[in-house]
Amino acid sequence: MKQLQKIYDNNKAWADGIKRNEPNFFSDLSKQQSPEYLWIGCSDSRVVAEQLVGLQPGELFVHRNIANVVVPTDLNCLSVIQFAVEVLKVKHIIVCGHYGCGGVKASMELVEHGLIDNWLCHIKSVHQKNEEELLSFTDKTERLDRLCELNVIEQVKNICHTTIIQRAWRNHQHLSVHGCIYTLETGILKDLNTRYSEMSHMNDIYQLREAKRDVYKPNINIIKNSLKVGKYD
Ligand code: CO
Repeated sequence: MKQLQKIYDNNKAWADGIKRNEPNFFSDLSKQQSPEYLWIGCSDSRVVAEQLVGLQPGELFVHRNIANVVVPTDLNCLSVIQFAVEVLKVKHIIVCGHYGCGGVKASMELVEHGLIDNWLCHIKSVHQKNEEELLSFTDKTERLDRLCELNVIEQVKNICHTTIIQRAWRNHQHLSVHGCIYTLETGILKDLNTRYSEMSHMNDIYQLREAKRDVYKPNINIIKNSLKVGKYD
């Protein structure tokens, strides 16, 4: 028996179930995807993106990593955002965090966890920025949960600061970036009321304008002269 037999059996039952209700579902879906939403969430196995918002295959483009962090040096995440915005033309990007996030919790601990601490540094920065508010919580769980919210809010801004979103807005593309947070205990998603949909929502320093570039015209005389010297003389 295959080690992953349960996985294959479940898959067969799932595909058969969908085909029973909608015989052309998979053949239609295989032709194209046109999701309206890009979801950036935590890798946590309990935060099941499509299921918790009741969307079907083809309706949600998804990127997940530990603690739903977006940094402008992460080519993986940036590539997902670029494809979603420029090719799929999604209308909404949703950053979804969750209360009690293990990644956020680890970022608050003063012990080494190994390589992941480098990733968690991004959340420590959020902590540092909001230290006064966070330290006002005497209850550790409340403090963690607030940092989970603040982390989502920060990542929403980070997305808006990327050249991808800036360019999309400059080109008048309809695109909003939202933040929300999920409660594991209830299955309920809460809107964090953080939403940006145009350049003017950003701090001035992030309102990138198109650069006026000089068209490169090679100086043909310099090239001709350089060819006169050397072994071809
Ligand atoms: Co998490």
